Amino acid sequence: MLQVEDLRVFHGPIEAVHGISFSVGQGQCVSLLGPNGAGKTSTISAITGVARSTGRITLSGEDITSMPVESRIRRGIAVSPEGRRVFANLSVKENLRLGGAYLQDGLAARIDEWFGTFPILRERRDQPAGTLSGGEQQMLAIARALVAKPRILLLDEPSLGLAPKIVTQIFAMIQKLNEQGMTTLLVEQNAAKALRLSSYAFLLNSGRVVADGTPETLGGNDALMAELTGLA
Ligand SMILES: Nc1ncnc2c1ncn2[C@@H]1O[C@H](COP(=O)(O)OP(=O)(O)OP(=O)(O)O)[C@@H](O)[C@H]1O
Ligand SMILES: [Mg+2]
Repeated sequence: MLQVEDLRVFHGPIEAVHGISFSVGQGQCVSLLGPNGAGKTSTISAITGVARSTGRITLSGEDITSMPVESRIRRGIAVSPEGRRVFANLSVKENLRLGGAYLQDGLAARIDEWFGTFPILRERRDQPAGTLSGGEQQMLAIARALVAKPRILLLDEPSLGLAPKIVTQIFAMIQKLNEQGMTTLLVEQNAAKALRLSSYAFLLNSGRVVADGTPETLGGNDALMAELTGLA
């Protein structure tokens, strides 16, 4: 579904990611793990087209490397950004409408459908998003991505700053989406939890892939797991 080859990502003159390669197969949940500053968000920004990059990014075989952001969204890339970044002054429903801005056809019905998965958002649909709890805002950020009908969902640290009980709920939600067939790239510092619902994971450090494997192989590597746990 998504293939990333020899990706370098730049912020002005700074090269944040130094030639990484990975892929996400249809229906898979693949994790990008790593500590602060590893280059996880930079990688997401290159995939969505907001950061300058070199290398090759293909979506279902189509080269999207040089495409503008809007074309990538239209082709089915949607992101729940780091720090959630909901529009605080807009209502829950208005946030969701913006998520589907490029695919107006059937948008109201899709929003209604996702309210079924996120009943708390239905309850709070007319409330300003800024008045939601952190966990609810995270749900909204994910739902906002989903109403765009993505072919691949990019989740940048959905557990960041949330209480353990809420983190468990968020991860259960991601697992459910994946079981329903959603292709997902999950960026996380919470390696243990992310591995539990991934079919494959890549460990980034200082802009490079330093390890990759299935949860079983990564989980069975005690030294690596100690390092990963230390990162959380
Ligand atoms: N806008 C920017 N301008 C300059 N440097 C940046 C910018 N964004 C990121 N960087 C640098 O790029 C490197 C990778 O940052 P990035 O945000 O991708 O890491 P991350 O893995 O997402 O970290 P975190 O877990 O803290 O979110 C860091 O050294 C960071 O300082
Ligand atoms: Mg980040």
